[in-house]
Amino acid sequence: MLELNAVHAHYGKVHVLQGTSLKVADGEAVGLLGRNGVGKTTTLKSIMGLVPATGGNVVFDGTMLTQIPPHKIPGTGIGYVPQGRGIFPTLSVRENLEIGLPKAAAEETLAHVFERFPRLKERLRQAGGTLSGGEQQMLAIARCLVLKPRLLILDEPTEGIMPILVQDIRREIAAVNGAGVSLLLVEQNIKTALKLCSRIYIMEKGAVVHEARAEDLKNDRETLHRYLGVTV
Ligand SMILES: Nc1ncnc2c1ncn2[C@@H]1O[C@H](COP(=O)(O)OP(=O)(O)O)[C@@H](O)[C@H]1O
Ligand SMILES: [Mg+2]
Repeated sequence: MLELNAVHAHYGKVHVLQGTSLKVADGEAVGLLGRNGVGKTTTLKSIMGLVPATGGNVVFDGTMLTQIPPHKIPGTGIGYVPQGRGIFPTLSVRENLEIGLPKAAAEETLAHVFERFPRLKERLRQAGGTLSGGEQQMLAIARCLVLKPRLLILDEPTEGIMPILVQDIRREIAAVNGAGVSLLLVEQNIKTALKLCSRIYIMEKGAVVHEARAEDLKNDRETLHRYLGVTV
């Protein structure tokens, strides 16, 4: 459903993405790993049109995303939760969820979301910025889900979240995927990536350098050590 073909991107003169290619199939959960600064966030931004591709292309269900204006990209069926969550801190939980939602559909859609995120229902009038880190992440994910995406893109959803809540977030994300939404997940927490994803790409210096099934990568000490610096 999603395909990046040799995507290049620059920040000014700095050539950050140097031919990134990857694919996400219908219903699949795919992880994108790599050390800090290798270009994972930039890859996601290039999909969303937030950083223009200076070469290559991005195709989603037959639409060439690199040829449409960025504000039209969410409407093609992609939900994006940026690193640092991107919720509106001074708006209430309800207002955060209602942004971009057609009025007629609001009540029904929200009821559906609250079934999945009961904690948010209890905090509807609370300002987004006063929620805990884990709750803010749930709000950021819920905000995407009200728009019923077919692909959810998450940039380090467990970053800065209390370890005890990481499991909760992981469970929510797994449930979203279980309901048929494809996932593209950037994670520093390798355990989370291996649990949620069936296939993993590893990036280095602006390009994908390794691709593996999660179950194989789990036992591939050498690759984990070489590209991610972890010892298992
Ligand atoms: N807005 C920006 N302006 C200039 N350079 C940037 C900007 N954002 C990121 N970079 C640089 O681009 C590279 C890739 O960054 P990023 O995609 O955020 O990496 P990752 O998400 O893998 O940590 C890094 O060297 C980073 O310093
Ligand atoms: Mg990043």
